[in-house]
Amino acid sequence: MANENPFTILIFFLYCLTTFLSQAVSKSTIEPCSNSDTCSALVGYTLYTDLKVSEVASLFSVDPISLLLSNSIDISYPDVENHILPSQLFLKIPIPCSCVDGIRKSSTTSYKTRPSDTLASIATAIYGGLVSADQINEANPDAGISDPSVINVGTKLNIPLPCICFNNSDNNLPAIYMSYVVKPVDTLSGIAARYFTTLSDLMNVNQLGSPAIKEGDILAIPLSACASNFPKYASDYGLFVPNGSYAITASDCVQCSCGPGSRNLYCMPASLSVSCSSMQCRNSNLMLGNVTKQQSSAGCNVTSCSYGGFVNGSITTWLSSSLQPRCPGSQQFPSLIAPPTVVPDSLFAPAPSPSESGGFPTTSPKSSVVPSSGASIGFPPANGPAGSASGSSDACSLMNNLSSFSAVITLGLVFKFIMSIP
Ligand SMILES: *[C@@H]1O[C@H](CO)[C@@H](O)[C@H](O)[C@H]1NC(C)=O
Ligand SMILES: *[C@@H]1O[C@H](CO)[C@@H](O)[C@H](O)[C@H]1NC(C)=O
Ligand SMILES: *[C@@H]1O[C@H](CO)[C@@H](O)[C@H](O)[C@H]1NC(C)=O
Ligand SMILES: *[C@@H]1O[C@H](CO)[C@@H](O)[C@H](O)[C@H]1NC(C)=O
Ligand SMILES: *[C@@H]1O[C@H](CO)[C@@H](O)[C@H](O)[C@H]1NC(C)=O
Ligand SMILES: *[C@@H]1O[C@H](CO)[C@@H](O)[C@H](O)[C@H]1NC(C)=O
Repeated sequence: MANENPFTILIFFLYCLTTFLSQAVSKSTIEPCSNSDTCSALVGYTLYTDLKVSEVASLFSVDPISLLLSNSIDISYPDVENHILPSQLFLKIPIPCSCVDGIRKSSTTSYKTRPSDTLASIATAIYGGLVSADQINEANPDAGISDPSVINVGTKLNIPLPCICFNNSDNNLPAIYMSYVVKPVDTLSGIAARYFTTLSDLMNVNQLGSPAIKEGDILAIPLSACASNFPKYASDYGLFVPNGSYAITASDCVQCSCGPGSRNLYCMPASLSVSCSSMQCRNSNLMLGNVTKQQSSAGCNVTSCSYGGFVNGSITTWLSSSLQPRCPGSQQFPSLIAPPTVVPDSLFAPAPSPSESGGFPTTSPKSSVVPSSGASIGFPPANGPAGSASGSSDACSLMNNLSSFSAVITLGLVFKFIMSIP
């Protein structure tokens, strides 16, 4: 910045202060990014009303089958896409996570406005607080929204959903991150227990100084996952499947699962009746997903025909053999549930006690924490370069991290600074 004069510095300080104070309202974890790589991520979504599977899928611009499989819902039910899911049901929605203006967010979700929608109702009611009205407004400069409470019906809006990649790893193990809007009943230890992680891991990932969370905060929750090792030129490169769920790939021809009890991705032909190319491993009579075991005095010779990615529209397979001390048991699959018609009680059960007595994060924080809304109020990045808002947030992060005691000192400094301006 060349034109640094006392006034702009003052504005910057006040902006940081606003940022700091508005943390009392709600915060969210963001991931700065510089490359254009996309990763798989999830958003946690609570239905605001009864909705068909296909309606939920279209709200997030995702494929209904992927949506169902991410939630381990049996897709073999007749007419499952038109099944009506109950209000208040919680779903994990798989979204591609891109890099937009230096911050990880989704760029593929769009919403077509309906009568009586306002930006606030779209953000808060329809998208359940995953996004703010300001963020929708900023993501749609060409929509010509001058009054956020009056929007032309049928306007197509980009919905910038929060998402996190963090290299698809957590503590050096494969993970997929779910953006989660904190509910009034939630505690951090309850969330940790529900998603098989620990309090200290959640605090570290979200760079929290204390386990205190508030309704409306957006947390990144690392879910243990199975990683694929497809080559970079495969169209499903980077497929990650969360523990206990399924994913469909290769034009709906291949279905992969993760867990329980194993961190290895297991893929086999999908049960959908679509026409698919051959899934037989070359030079063998094994089909995709077949595993043969031969016990000998040397051990167990395990041969498997595995999925190698979707390349140029064809399913690639590879045959591998290994000698293992003991023959593995048969493949276990995550249990499938029938399409829900009522909200399971367990969602509202009291939070279980944490599986680990929480300590403070030990490894270095990976993210910066910013308020999910309100940050840009009073500091329009009008003349700034693209991404200036996030840059400012980074510069402010030191301030965000201060204890309330130091905040008082900071306030004092700002005051002194104001007084010193001629
Ligand atoms: C991301 O993960 C890969 C392997 O999963 C590793 O090789 C690479 O160094 C990691 N990158 C960063 C920036 O952590
Ligand atoms: C933020 O606070 C944590 C402890 O609460 C500390 O480890 C970390 O270094 C602080 N970060 C900054 C940027 O001050
Ligand atoms: C995977 O999920 C199962 C329950 O479905 C759980 O028992 C297991 O601990 C989870 N594994 C990991 C590594 O999170
Ligand atoms: C091989 O896989 C095919 C397709 O999944 C299955 O129908 C068949 O039963 C399997 N055969 C063996 C020997 O596991
Ligand atoms: C294991 O079995 C495969 C096929 O059945 C065979 O090609 C391979 O040589 C065997 N490996 C060993 C170490 O016995
Ligand atoms: C995919 O097809 C293109 C031409 O259609 C070819 O140049 C490329 O080598 C193919 N890639 C692989 C991995 O086979």
